[in-house]
Amino acid sequence: MTSHRQHHIMEGRTGTEVILNGLKYLYFAGTSYFQLHTHPDVVNAAMDATHKYGVGSATTRVMTGTTPLLLKIEDKLAGYFNTEDAVYLPSGYLSSLAGLKALDEMGTYDVIFLDEGSHYSLVEGAIATGRPVIPFRNRDPKDLELKISEHLGSGQRPLVATDGLFPVIAKLAPVRDYLDLAVKHQGVIWIDDAHGVGILGAHGRGTCEALGARSDRIYLGATLSKAFGAYGGIIMGSGSFINKVRSGSVMTGSSSPMNAAVAAAIKGLELVQENPGLRKKLWKNARYLNESLGQLGITSESRFIPEMHGTIPVASFSYGDAANMKSIHNYLMEQGIYIQYTKYKGAGPGGVLRIVVSSSHKKVEIVRLTTALKEAFRLFNS
Ligand SMILES: Cc1ncc(COP(=O)(O)O)c(C=O)c1O
Repeated sequence: MTSHRQHHIMEGRTGTEVILNGLKYLYFAGTSYFQLHTHPDVVNAAMDATHKYGVGSATTRVMTGTTPLLLKIEDKLAGYFNTEDAVYLPSGYLSSLAGLKALDEMGTYDVIFLDEGSHYSLVEGAIATGRPVIPFRNRDPKDLELKISEHLGSGQRPLVATDGLFPVIAKLAPVRDYLDLAVKHQGVIWIDDAHGVGILGAHGRGTCEALGARSDRIYLGATLSKAFGAYGGIIMGSGSFINKVRSGSVMTGSSSPMNAAVAAAIKGLELVQENPGLRKKLWKNARYLNESLGQLGITSESRFIPEMHGTIPVASFSYGDAANMKSIHNYLMEQGIYIQYTKYKGAGPGGVLRIVVSSSHKKVEIVRLTTALKEAFRLFNS
């Protein structure tokens, strides 16, 4: 039996470098797109909040009371996403469960149509509603249309559920097409944009902003554990919808989050909001990585969308079979560089090599990576 304790041990702080099992590597993985998890202001905010308020309140918000930090992050989130209200949840994993249940209680849909590339949390959240869940092919509006015509009864309304940015294949969902189909049938769409928020769109509001998809039929959940350098799930939307989430089982039945996490989130959100240059730097690095990979013959059709504000900071590709990709991964580790070889959801049975760039990477570090990759491709030519 494989033990899940056998992973690498990550020591110290993780930034553009990481220490794995005592050895230092140049790091091109993870999801800290602006490296805010170790930003001194974020760390200090977490420490100050712990000193001031303790670790947590050891009660649920509904039972005794909320905290000033929670009220502040929720106000700030509503401001950042330009929505009427927002709610903070114990983890991003719970956002889809809480959001889909609230929409169900509001009577907005009858059948869920689920992009089959969606994150585990979205699949499980959809099933938990007890509504029929019909999968359709990843990023395929035509298949969605077909599935709606086959499975939606007369008078029924669809909820189309999808990730915004699929993190493993590094592609966006065609949310405008999904929205058109949902609207055509008086339905709604739910987007888990865990990876898009903060990094894409003119204001960093994520995939919908980047693709110009706007509608009160779009419902959005995400996380603070990636671009914003903190921890916790978030849902944004109208006052009545957010109130429904607040009175739902996820919020009623879970302890208030750690004060450190909420304070870190407030600071992380402020840093992202006040420094649009972070996004510009990230897009520039992403573009440079993609161009460099293009010169090595690795291209992707969807990472550059001309009218889109942003470039996806993830490159994902297969190169020969699983054994070949593992050899490339191992060779890079021997050179002191860590990229992922992963079979995470969306990667397909053979897995993919996956490179994540952050706004903090220097050009010379990206050059070191692509130079080593070029040699790896020569050695392990599929
Ligand atoms: C698409 C997606 N949704 C949800 C989550 C869960 O978020 P969290 O880690 O904050 O619980 C993740 C991964 O962490 C994710 O990649």
